Amino acid sequence: MHIDIQQASVSRIKEIPDGDLGFGRIFSDHMFSMDWSGDTWIEPRIHPYGPIEIIPSALALHYGQSVFEGLKAYRGPTDDRIRLFRPHSNAQRLKASCERLCIPCVSPDIFLEAIRELVSIDCAWVPHGPDCSLYIRPLLFGSEGTLAVRAASTYRFLIITAPVQEYFNRQGQGIYLKAEHRFTRASPGGTGGAKTAGNYAATLQPMSDSAGAGFDQILWLDGVEHRYVEEAGQMNIFFHLGDTIVTPDLSGTILPGITRDTALTILREWGYKIEERRISMDEVITASKTGNLREAFGAGTAAVVVPIDRIHYLGQDLQLPQAGNHSLCQQLYQAITELQFGVTQDNHGWSVLVD
Ligand code: COI
Repeated sequence: MHIDIQQASVSRIKEIPDGDLGFGRIFSDHMFSMDWSGDTWIEPRIHPYGPIEIIPSALALHYGQSVFEGLKAYRGPTDDRIRLFRPHSNAQRLKASCERLCIPCVSPDIFLEAIRELVSIDCAWVPHGPDCSLYIRPLLFGSEGTLAVRAASTYRFLIITAPVQEYFNRQGQGIYLKAEHRFTRASPGGTGGAKTAGNYAATLQPMSDSAGAGFDQILWLDGVEHRYVEEAGQMNIFFHLGDTIVTPDLSGTILPGITRDTALTILREWGYKIEERRISMDEVITASKTGNLREAFGAGTAAVVVPIDRIHYLGQDLQLPQAGNHSLCQQLYQAITELQFGVTQDNHGWSVLVD
């Protein structure tokens, strides 16, 4: 693929604040764009980050025909090299999301080439620091202007990047979840397993209701009985029960997280018994009462691996055991981030060098 490159005349990199990157507030100098027209992707280009023109009748704006991805580039603390973590898995997940939303797919080769080129042009934006990285957000949406409810005939594929800290910047402290029993995020046969814009919009009202009450995130329950744990907003969820790690299975209503898969692979290698199955809040509460619940944590690209401190369910707070420095969550966090930053040997072929 030939990518047309238009360099920014002045870099904005000096605008990066010292110490407080937050998540998704600052965007690097360049972005990637490409259009789908006449049954093919055309005009791949890298150009200065900035507003884009979009027709007000664009299908994505009205009917949500839009999918996205999230991955990161990491700067190695010892070798200063830049690595992507499991970008092929993001390419595969994007393909699955595209199929669900009737969007033409971007081939994994083009996806990877576009990301590598963009990150290498903006390599100075990949931050230094143990909990910082360059978040990469590919986005694909129906750009055709029409009010007919159907798949668009034209699409735009964009990639933007942002230097970030971890999503929950809690310095190892656990998060407080509210198990949501009124609203649901997804139901069987819906789009819950796709990374599509509408899934996130549907979470905003329950999230804003609960933010005032001090909750960090919603813990979504199943859409039929509101009893079984699904996922926690930006992350998949894991319970350490006795000698087993239990996580909701990929039944189509939860996002097939890449960090989820990474965590499960590592936990299996460490000898843990893994159960991917339905787990009800009742089971979690019983396990807590009998002392069988050892810890719970969430995992996602933006969040990495975070301990869960408390879960609010039907008016009661369930206090989880204090995880501490030697918790499984902490060990997993360390193992995953050391792989991502190239500190430990990658025996899985997960890292892709950018330079
Ligand atoms: C990610 O972890 O990459 C996500 O997409 C979560 C995001 C909505 C912040």
